[in-house]
Amino acid sequence: MTLNTIKGYDFTQKRVVMRVDFNILLDEKNDARDIYKLKAVQESIDYILSFDGVRLALISHRGRPTGQNQKHFTMAYLADDIARILNRTVHSVCDCVGVCVVDALEKMREGEVLLLENLRFHKEEKADDELFAQQLAAPFDVYVNEAFSVCHRAHASVHAITKYLPSYAGLWLAKEVANLERVRRATEHPSVAIIGGAKIDTKVPLISAFEKSYDTILVGGRVAIEAQQRQMTFAGNVVLPTDYSDHHFDIGAQTIRLFQEKIAQAKIIVWNGPMGKFEEAPYDRGTRALAQTIGENTQAFSVVGGGESVQALHESGYFDAVSFVSTGGGAMLSFLSGEPMPGLD
Ligand code: 3PG
Repeated sequence: MTLNTIKGYDFTQKRVVMRVDFNILLDEKNDARDIYKLKAVQESIDYILSFDGVRLALISHRGRPTGQNQKHFTMAYLADDIARILNRTVHSVCDCVGVCVVDALEKMREGEVLLLENLRFHKEEKADDELFAQQLAAPFDVYVNEAFSVCHRAHASVHAITKYLPSYAGLWLAKEVANLERVRRATEHPSVAIIGGAKIDTKVPLISAFEKSYDTILVGGRVAIEAQQRQMTFAGNVVLPTDYSDHHFDIGAQTIRLFQEKIAQAKIIVWNGPMGKFEEAPYDRGTRALAQTIGENTQAFSVVGGGESVQALHESGYFDAVSFVSTGGGAMLSFLSGEPMPGLD
């Protein structure tokens, strides 16, 4: 897939709106629990702001608010974290459309960043509403999509807005697409996909896609338990657990060994979804063991995605040992399953 990235555009004196995905959980002090998605956009922001006279605004959703006044979901909580990571002054704006955006753009100084309010405070965002997209686009000259993890959503800030502004891919977005395309092609062998987690309906299309392209697909977590309960049948390259921990909260010792053997020999590895209830010891054993084996296989091109797998990777200390950590959860699944990606199209 060839993307028009920001490297081909002259941003001098332009007003730029960048779609990012700062859908990040907060801790009890309202600080970001995880800064990976913030760091991911830094390179593009620094690149754009290296041009003279640029004014840059970031747009994102956070959570799934149901009404206008759910201040719990305000983007403003993230302003300090963003300022710290980007090492820039960040101004929160009280809405993502309208006069306050125009005013803030007028007042901001070079090198600063505007953080517009949660897009999903407007129901039109999820409806991919044309008028809302025009309102979002109105104060700007150019649109940048740096939010791979929402590219599976046909939402106004991802899809409709591109009809009203010249649109470019951010550098992180391009990296995600290149790495996930390599995973999807899986031309290195042996290729091993590891699929776990709880939501079987989102994982079955992925298993079906990998059945055709991967040498081995290791399935664990609730996905495996439900597949076995429903007596689902798969191709011969799909490996289901042969044993479990008590209460079926984790894969068992024999399965861990079998999965580790496959992973240790792989040349390409993709992992999405934990093997069990990894947030509760001792049921984290399977997930952690796999994280370790993936991290220790330095000959493989390894890609991990999905909130829980990434958290497990962090907690096991192997975050930096894998080749690429995707910011995409649902988006990674959609991309790898070959489903529509309106944000990329
Ligand atoms: C994510 O965190 O995966 C994205 O922000 C998408 O969020 P959504 O599932 O609420 O659309």
